Amino acid sequence: MVQRQRLHPGGPTLSRLVWGAWRARDAEATRTPQGLLRMIETCLDHGITTFDHADIYGQYGVEVLFGEALRLAPALRARIEVVTKCGIALASPARPAHRVKHYDTSAAHVRASVERSLADLGVERIDVLLLHRPDPLMDADEVAGVLAGLVAEGKIAHAGVSNHTVEQMRLLAARLPFPLVTNQIELSLLHTDPLESGLLDHLQAERIAPMIWSPLGGGRLFASPPEGPLGRTMAELCATYALSGPGPLALAWLMRLPSRPVPVIGTTSPARIADLAAAAAVVMERQDWFALLEAARGRAVA
Ligand SMILES: NC(=O)c1ccc[n+]([C@@H]2O[C@H](COP(=O)([O-])OP(=O)(O)OC[C@H]3O[C@@H](n4cnc5c(N)ncnc54)[C@H](OP(=O)(O)O)[C@@H]3O)[C@@H](O)[C@H]2O)c1
Repeated sequence: MVQRQRLHPGGPTLSRLVWGAWRARDAEATRTPQGLLRMIETCLDHGITTFDHADIYGQYGVEVLFGEALRLAPALRARIEVVTKCGIALASPARPAHRVKHYDTSAAHVRASVERSLADLGVERIDVLLLHRPDPLMDADEVAGVLAGLVAEGKIAHAGVSNHTVEQMRLLAARLPFPLVTNQIELSLLHTDPLESGLLDHLQAERIAPMIWSPLGGGRLFASPPEGPLGRTMAELCATYALSGPGPLALAWLMRLPSRPVPVIGTTSPARIADLAAAAAVVMERQDWFALLEAARGRAVA
């Protein structure tokens, strides 16, 4: 069973692995309410209780689909945590007023987006609301004001960011009356920049656990040639840790970081959940961790 973890001392407790709904409408298994309900139930069977969304997923359609799935089994609402995001505005038939893809962190947009997410998901409160991308036109006082209002009204429980730098986090944190509880970032064996950018150090210093998107490189990890350095090292270490394949191994590699990352897995296959959840039981040995980093980068550390 996947354990639970606090994102921040003043923040919510989520499952140590989160299921991300981004691809839900793309796959046969999850594109119907019944199929998506099966995925939610499979996640819950393995202790994965937190579900990651964004208003824009599936051309603004995934939250509606998730809401339909929850309506088939309303008792599940009390057993799950919902994370969603706002701030990206797609040029989409679902939003005819958008002439160009843009970011919008105005108070009016954030509030309207949250209210729509609540209605689409069919929930009374969002557990964590994230600003999806840093917006060059963000007015930090305005954002802090609308987030504080949404918390006071009980529409969101906590706020965080996604894809923000240390400085962008500091700006918003300086104006908010409560802490940011996470920064959802891209990190994987195939995208290791945050290990050195200072971001993970900042998050550890602030005791903020990052959420990790595309923890398996969006599936690219599985295309690693088996005879190449990464393929060979992954096969060896899967045997060492009795793991079924690169998926759980790569998650265990991420979860070894002291900033306590919470990976958001994106598989649309309920059959893969048990194998991926096995990662939560592994504590990777230090040299094995570096062996994977070296194999993934093609060079040893300095
Ligand atoms: N904050 C942001 O800006 C941002 C950006 C992107 C994503 N996200 C969030 O992060 C979540 C995860 O992103 P992601 O989908 O790219 O994550 P991922 O877990 O790295 O990749 C999932 C992809 O890997 C494929 N895959 C192939 N073989 C697999 C195997 N053996 N085990 C597991 N997966 C396998 C999956 O296909 P199958 O479906 O066939 O298993 C799926 O297409 C999203 O759902 C979303 O919630 C956030």
